[in-house]
Amino acid sequence: MTTHHTGPQPAGLGTPAGQSETPAAMPLDVAKIREDFPLLRQMVNGHPLVYLDNAATSQKPQVVIDSLVNYYTTKNSNVHRGVHTLSQLATEDYEGARAKVRGLLNAEHDKEIIFVRGTTEGINLVAQTFGRQNVGQGDEIIISSLEHHSNIVPWQMLCQERGATLKVIPINDAGELLMDDYEQLLSPRTKLVSVLHVSNALGTINPAKEIVEIAHSRGVPVLLDGAQAVPHMQVDVQDLGCDFYVFSGHKLYAPTGIGVLYGRAELLESMPPWQGGGEMIKSVTFQETLYNDLPYKFEAGTPNIAGAIGLGAAIDYVSGIGLDRILAWEQELLEYGTECLSSIEGLRLVGTAEKKAAILSFVMDKAHPHDIGTILDSQGIAIRTGHHCTQPLMDRLGITATARASLAFYNTKEEVDTLVKGIDRVIEVFS
Ligand code: ALA
Repeated sequence: MTTHHTGPQPAGLGTPAGQSETPAAMPLDVAKIREDFPLLRQMVNGHPLVYLDNAATSQKPQVVIDSLVNYYTTKNSNVHRGVHTLSQLATEDYEGARAKVRGLLNAEHDKEIIFVRGTTEGINLVAQTFGRQNVGQGDEIIISSLEHHSNIVPWQMLCQERGATLKVIPINDAGELLMDDYEQLLSPRTKLVSVLHVSNALGTINPAKEIVEIAHSRGVPVLLDGAQAVPHMQVDVQDLGCDFYVFSGHKLYAPTGIGVLYGRAELLESMPPWQGGGEMIKSVTFQETLYNDLPYKFEAGTPNIAGAIGLGAAIDYVSGIGLDRILAWEQELLEYGTECLSSIEGLRLVGTAEKKAAILSFVMDKAHPHDIGTILDSQGIAIRTGHHCTQPLMDRLGITATARASLAFYNTKEEVDTLVKGIDRVIEVFS
């Protein structure tokens, strides 16, 4: 096979007779989209690359790569610090990227968008500022069994420091939150609910809006970890009603090292700064410092200017395609992949929530996930194996690891077929 085969035209996304075509119903031209991603053209271990590790990081379209080259070739300069032309151009692009993120998330104000290194840093920022300010001895923070280590460890560290308790929403065997138990966990001591929007290990799409509504009815703020949601669906923080929302650029086809913390302006205003340094100040004397306004109060030091500009380019790119169309195609791939993998004897899908993003986690009777990953890699197929930074979730499911194929909108049904052939090879090796 070749990675340049004619991409499938998603069946079932056509316009029903008599209805006008909605953007979501317009099929993606996957073959054309793939041409935008130079990395996908390569051979790995003598085979055309089949990249199915998008939940770990996604590949970058040429426009994103070009935006970095263009910035470093023509505008490289520090932001907010110079009267000279280059500094002003760099500042315009950097702040332009912030406005694009605001648009992507439908936040109310640009100042609610804080650039950070990624999801992990965004959560740590909230733990170290909002957390330290509001969580005391005997207080409680609620997370869920599905969480990535990045939404467990920062809260554990805070709880240890403050003498607070971490409470965990349980899940059923399909990987869905038990919402009644969630309601029971909320108490007058709950200071924050921090849960993921979409599970990186299982693909479960959580009922984020309902989670927020329930917490808010008890006056408890909510942080949503959107690392695996933002690349795959339209996220509207005002509609969700969340207080904080975090995501990483690199999973949204942008560079590594750039991410976003969204926070409601009122909350961010009331929080102390995190890191101290240049940019986050209005004035400094040896006696005291006056802190800057939002969003700069939380952006000490020279930021990742190129990364933010790259993120802006990625947002333009996915918005040009349409996140609703991306979701529709990925859901079709998920359905196809689920059907194909379910029919393989000795293979069990892990994570069968009713609402799922395009993640296929599985275990096999005879082969360890690491062996599966190695045999697939020898055929040019990239998946992730292991605990996916969710060891407590693996414990809850009674396993230590899974093999995980995570799909993006540039993947094709032919690639799912190649995965299935690859798994056939694993079965041969272990029979
Ligand atoms: N959180 C990323 C993953 O799930 C790295 O692979």
